[in-house]
Amino acid sequence: MVTYLDAATAPLRNTGQIRLHGPENFAAMRKACALTARCLDELVAIVKPGVPTDTIDRFIFEYGMDHGAIPATLNYRGYTKSCCTSINHVVCHGIPDSKPLREGDIVNIDVTFILDGWHGDSSRMYPVGQIKRASERLLEVTHECLMRGIAAVKPGLRTGAIGAAIQTYAEAERCSVVRDFCGHGVGQLFHDAPNILHYGSPSEGIEMREGMIFTIEPMINLGRPHVKVLSDGWTAVTRDRSLSAQYEHTIGVTATGCEIFTLSPAGLDRPGLPS
Ligand code: MF3
Ligand code: CO
Ligand code: CO
Repeated sequence: MVTYLDAATAPLRNTGQIRLHGPENFAAMRKACALTARCLDELVAIVKPGVPTDTIDRFIFEYGMDHGAIPATLNYRGYTKSCCTSINHVVCHGIPDSKPLREGDIVNIDVTFILDGWHGDSSRMYPVGQIKRASERLLEVTHECLMRGIAAVKPGLRTGAIGAAIQTYAEAERCSVVRDFCGHGVGQLFHDAPNILHYGSPSEGIEMREGMIFTIEPMINLGRPHVKVLSDGWTAVTRDRSLSAQYEHTIGVTATGCEIFTLSPAGLDRPGLPS
């Protein structure tokens, strides 16, 4: 049986129970998530052909330091970078390195800042120079999947409504949904209950309630859904080497739907695509 508890008094570890956050926690999440969104905005001017992902990683580290925040990925389960940079057929958890980005690449940059103890988790796709029409279509489909998932958030419905909305749209567009990674509760913990699946049916999952805070972060492939993790222990790639894309928002469930905490203040939620 799933249980819900007041986030203000619950122990700070993932017990599988669902935290319900009050207005103070929502206010704290708004701040952490706004910082992450502003940093993702800054990256639009930085991502270019020839730039190594290490340079992006260093920018994000310094941006955090300059604003009193720590990148949550730093030393997280042995991960040593300030972000994930997932290029082309990399599904997620790509590790920044010295290799330069190339014209036509699509790269996901995933940033989580901890500000005053609260985690703001968001990622966007960045086109590198001019990209192919097929790549652009994948980005459009994937962003639409995220927004349709968000539109399905409503107290009283189950989390399966989110996955169903995403899977229905992705598959109608002849794309596939990655099953091996999911969205997650987030707050003072980076990865908390519940898991948010990006596929499934409205009758599955747990009931959404006002005060829940979680991410939605669909990974969508042009080819088959299957992934494998490389020998570095992190980098997840499509088995068929088809292109993969991901966008991520952190949201809070309200009385009528949800509030997106990580929206771009500059309207740059889908860099390089027509807004
Ligand atoms: N930010 C990722 C997420 O959306 C998690 C990255 S964990 C890392 O949940 F260790 F790979 F960085
Ligand atoms: Co996340
Ligand atoms: Co993330």
